[in-house]
Parts: sequence; structure tokens; C-alpha cells
Amino acid sequence: MKLKGVPGWAKLALIVPALGAMTGIAVAQMGANEPAMDADEPAMEAEDPAMEAAAGEMVSIQVGVYTEEQAERGLATFMSRGCNGCHGNEMQGSPGGPTLKGFLFNFHWGDKPATEVMAFMQANMPPGAAGSLTDQAYTDILAAIFHANGYPVGDDELVYEELANILVENAPQE
Ligand code: HEC
Repeated sequence: MKLKGVPGWAKLALIVPALGAMTGIAVAQMGANEPAMDADEPAMEAEDPAMEAAAGEMVSIQVGVYTEEQAERGLATFMSRGCNGCHGNEMQGSPGGPTLKGFLFNFHWGDKPATEVMAFMQANMPPGAAGSLTDQAYTDILAAIFHANGYPVGDDELVYEELANILVENAPQE
């Protein structure tokens, strides 16, 4: 920007508030980062998510809270119990039922403990026969749903009794 014809003191008056605003933003950003960094620390220490969840600590789904094998088992049950008839073979949804993955899943269950989505499933799914599966079968299906959403696999299986300690943090979007 050329400030032709503007006296020197006036240029300074323009530049100084601009600098002030810039440093103000920098300070505000530093301040905003601090709590987030603190909040990250416990997650970084989480070496064994299964043990932490068992001990009653809140564990993020992002650290890997189910196994590949469990998700496969869950998907097989999802098919054999006819969930796919409404939700689709890849959980993409159909006219009979919504998709179980992506932004809709996030919108409903993101940032909530896994017990929320489990409670909904047990109380409503499959329609007309709600609660007809074992806790273990519903838990395996939940692992399959997490897998379909792109959440990472881990070394230990998802355990029904520990769902309250698993936080369904937002899934990576496709
Ligand atoms: C007859 C069709 C039908 C079948 C079969 C069915 N569902 Fe559903 N499902 C629906 C509909 C419709 C909804 C939306 C209900 C609502 O939001 O109140 C839904 C919602 C859900 C949701 C919540 C989705 C969300 O993001 O809110 C889950 C999880 C779910 N179903 C799992 C299952 C599982 C597991 C089975 C098999 C045991 C199953 N469903 C079988 C029709 C079906």
C-alpha cells in the first residue's frame, strides 16, 4: 500500500494499530492452544486403552478400541440378522434405513460415550425385534459400525461392560 501524500506521523498511526492487532491475534492463538495441549497429554500416555477403559478412565475411540476380527464377526451378524436389508451391505443406507457411517453417524453419536449408540440399538434394532441379540452380538456389530466409519483397529476387543468409557470422537470423513 502506497501512502502518498500522507504525513509521516499519520503513516505511523496506521501501522501501529495494525501491528497491535497482529500481536493481539498471536497472543490469543497461543492462549487458545494451551488448554488443548494439556488435554492431549493424558491421551498420549494411554498405552493400553483396554486397561484404562476397564479402570474406568475415558478412552478415545481414536486409539483403537476393537479388533479387525471382531468387526468381521460383527459384520457377519449384521448380515445374518438382516440389518443389511435396511442399512445396506456396506452400511451405506437404503430407503428402509439410514446410513450407519459418515457425517450422519457423527452428528448423532459423535462426542458421546459409546453407551448412547448401544442403548439406541438395543432399544430399537432390528425394528419389531429390538433387544433380540445378545450383548456380545450387539457389541460386535458396533465394532463393525466403527470399522465402517474408519475408526482405527486396536489390539483388544470392544467390551460391552466398558462402553461407557469409550468416547466416540468424530470419525475421519470420507
Ligand atoms: C426394517 C428396517 C431396519 C432393520 C432391519 C434394521 N434397522 Fe436400524 N434403523 C432403521 C431405521 C428406519 C432407523 C432410523 C430410526 C430413527 O432414527 O429413529 C435405524 C437406525 C439405526 C441406527 C442408528 C443410526 C443413527 O445414526 O442414528 C443403528 C445403529 C441401527 N439402526 C442399527 C441396526 C442394527 C444393528 C440392525 C440389525 C440388528 C438394524 N439396525 C436393523 C431401520 C432398520
